[in-house]
Amino acid sequence: MLLERTIPIISPSHKAFPIEVPKQLLSADGQLKDLRGRQLHDLRISVTDRCNFRCTYCMPKEVFGKNYSYLPQASVLSFEEIVRLSRLFVAHGVEKLRLTGGEPLLRKDLERLIAMLSELKTFAGKSLDLTLTTNGTLLAKKAQSLKNAGLARLTISLDALEDAVFKKINDVDHSVQEVLQGISTAQTAGFKDIKVNMVVQRGINDQEILPMARYFKARGIIVRFIEFMDVGNSNGWKMDSVVPSREVLQRINSEMPLLNLQPNYPGEVAQRWAYADGQGEIGVISSVTQAFCNSCSRARLSTEGQLYLCLFAHTGFDLRALLRKGASDAQLQTVIAQLWSQRRDNYSESRSTIKGANHRKIEMSYIGG
Ligand code: GTP
Ligand code: 5AD
Ligand code: SF4
Ligand code: SF4
Repeated sequence: MLLERTIPIISPSHKAFPIEVPKQLLSADGQLKDLRGRQLHDLRISVTDRCNFRCTYCMPKEVFGKNYSYLPQASVLSFEEIVRLSRLFVAHGVEKLRLTGGEPLLRKDLERLIAMLSELKTFAGKSLDLTLTTNGTLLAKKAQSLKNAGLARLTISLDALEDAVFKKINDVDHSVQEVLQGISTAQTAGFKDIKVNMVVQRGINDQEILPMARYFKARGIIVRFIEFMDVGNSNGWKMDSVVPSREVLQRINSEMPLLNLQPNYPGEVAQRWAYADGQGEIGVISSVTQAFCNSCSRARLSTEGQLYLCLFAHTGFDLRALLRKGASDAQLQTVIAQLWSQRRDNYSESRSTIKGANHRKIEMSYIGG
């Protein structure tokens, strides 16, 4: 690669590589493939590293306590910076933007960002799939303004319907009722394609699989049952905690028969199943027992503007430094193209051969689900 200058990457907890800005600029043609032939399609944008939950598997209190240093304001990408980068990713073929956190609804004036992003068009000139993952506690207050701002879809994380189980997981006494109220306000506000994500942990909330399936079936909401993953460095993961999707499906099918559905689009993370009675659908996300790295089309932008090419990466590429040093759109676009085209990550497929303790990973709360 021809060097124009070298910019050091700064990360709070991760050693970083410098990004080199090439002299020879590449143009974007709406298609970008990596070394495994995987085309860039989704950009997941973390808008804050803060959360009002302390889920034991994501932001345990022992680590994310009173003295934890969150990112200072100046480190966080501004809305204008996020929109500029999003536009450049869209020029490379991104068609879906997912806002994540931490808890994205804690970011002040998020509606303004959504309104700005909703103006972007895909390479083919269509509307983007603009969506957001939230724990739902602020939805009762914000659902209508999010809808008005142009948010197209919503995914709500909810791991149990039984209050005691839910409170044990979020570890801050938020009740299930707050989240259910948020979901129902979102439905009233006009969100149609609402999904609920449940991370299933054996012995913690697996008894909630059937109640969750029953409750949301009756309300036309798709629940996706997610295999518990070894993300981050502090979630105490062990293989015994994983309930394989096969088992989730058996349990549901024995009470409410299921039929396999085709994916909505190539590379869809969830495997879809319809209830045989024609009333509703569920999904299973089998990132542990049936890794889907071979079709992984997702790039991740951290709150402070580092680009991660895998959920399990330990290093990001500091796009913010380039932005703030005055890189042109063409330079940024070229860097993005080069980073993606050199990507070969496939952590979930090779998990068992990677020495867990030696593989430092990025925290899920920093990069979003
Ligand atoms: P839809 O657009 O609604 O189909 O959702 P999605 O495919 O964007 O899925 P979502 O963002 O709701 O992801 C659900 C969960 O799947 C995440 O919280 C993760 O647990 C897991 N997941 C999503 N993407 C990846 C990925 O690239 N790698 C791995 N290992 N897990 C992922
Ligand atoms: N395994 C699987 N999914 C996880 N998430 C967070 N931690 C994990 C994990 N260890 C996902 C969940 C949650 C979203 C914020 O991130 O889907 O809803
Ligand atoms: Fe829980 Fe999501 Fe917050 Fe993590 S980001 S602590 S999973 S609510
Ligand atoms: Fe993609 Fe990495 Fe997840 Fe595999 S483990 S699907 S490469 S993000």
